[in-house]
Amino acid sequence: MPLDPQRFLDDLHKLRSFGASGAGKGVVRQAYSDADIAARNWLAERMKDAGLEPHLDPLGNLFGLADAKSLLLGSHSDSQPEGGWLDGALGVIAGLEIARAAKEDGGPPISCVSFQDEEGRFGVLTGSDVWSGKLTLAEADRFADNQGNTLADMRGRMADLARDFLPHDRFTGFLEMHIEQGPYLEETGLAIGVVRDIVGIRDMRICFEGRQNHAGTTPMHLRRDAFQALTSFNAALNSRFANVVTPATVWTIGHVALHPNASSVVPGRAVFSMQWRDADADRLARMEEIIKETAQEIAAGHGVKAEFGPVMGIEPAAMDARFQAELADAAEALAPGKWQKMPSGALHDAANLATVMPAAMLFVPSIGGISHAFDEDTEETDLVLGLQVLNRAARVLAG
Ligand code: GLV
Ligand code: MN
Ligand code: MN
Repeated sequence: MPLDPQRFLDDLHKLRSFGASGAGKGVVRQAYSDADIAARNWLAERMKDAGLEPHLDPLGNLFGLADAKSLLLGSHSDSQPEGGWLDGALGVIAGLEIARAAKEDGGPPISCVSFQDEEGRFGVLTGSDVWSGKLTLAEADRFADNQGNTLADMRGRMADLARDFLPHDRFTGFLEMHIEQGPYLEETGLAIGVVRDIVGIRDMRICFEGRQNHAGTTPMHLRRDAFQALTSFNAALNSRFANVVTPATVWTIGHVALHPNASSVVPGRAVFSMQWRDADADRLARMEEIIKETAQEIAAGHGVKAEFGPVMGIEPAAMDARFQAELADAAEALAPGKWQKMPSGALHDAANLATVMPAAMLFVPSIGGISHAFDEDTEETDLVLGLQVLNRAARVLAG
């Protein structure tokens, strides 16, 4: 059977049913959760039905292998703690449909993949970090999530993990389709983005350790309040970054854990995430210096101690020129004048894959530019057009 857009949409809705949550089309399917494991088991069956051999590697990355060396298509099927139905899932099911259709109608061999923990419950893009060789499995195993669970324990929840990782040279290159997750395509009335490069990221945990005490009896001038330190740090950082950042630079404190988190207690400890992204590795390094200096200075001013966890990250990554050119040709053929080359401000497994094989990406619009939220969505006509563009380029690159 040739490419079947309805079968693709049906599978995409079926994948959403694992962890379906919230209003609209939301999903809760964090890496190694019951919903994630059930979704991977279902995906492995769909791969088998398509004549592809499922391979669940030691980290839980799930490949659907063609029977010869091939192009690889895919993305990730884990979600943020509150995620949408398309972030990652779209690229996984597009890869499955294209690999399946190629198998059915005698096309070139094409394999597909769903990487594990792209959303960084434990690391940054943990599954492709380990597969691409940036991290060892032993290093990743020691990572802990915000609740203190280790990756080693969580991956132990998955049955039938293979003992070995697949060699990279089993694949000739990687293509990933994804929703844009930002407003650009919708605002400019475009249907397709061909990604030129992916920004770099740095992420670390910071801990301000103060003194837990009674909120009624402790005079303000004697307090060593970890939350006051955190709010001062945030304000100081925003002003100190002003001379260093560009309008495209972004930084986020997205997770905060206050201890003991009670209204009548001066907070003794604040542990929080500090993440920053930019296309320039030197700027990322300068920002790290500013973050550390500012945190130390503010901590001292509040009588608290600042401690820094390891800095995790991904380098800015350029997409392969030949793969980009094929995606651009396919976009021009199927959506003439309705596509553009663009950067990606979101992270993707393609950034890691680009270090071991030619890799490129295709974007479709996000309604309202919303993602990492339950109401993330894209028009189905845009999803199908993206599938067709990806398929056209994949057939040329795999042939
Ligand atoms: C990936 O989900 C990212 O945080 O960009
Ligand atoms: Mn994603
Ligand atoms: Mn995401």
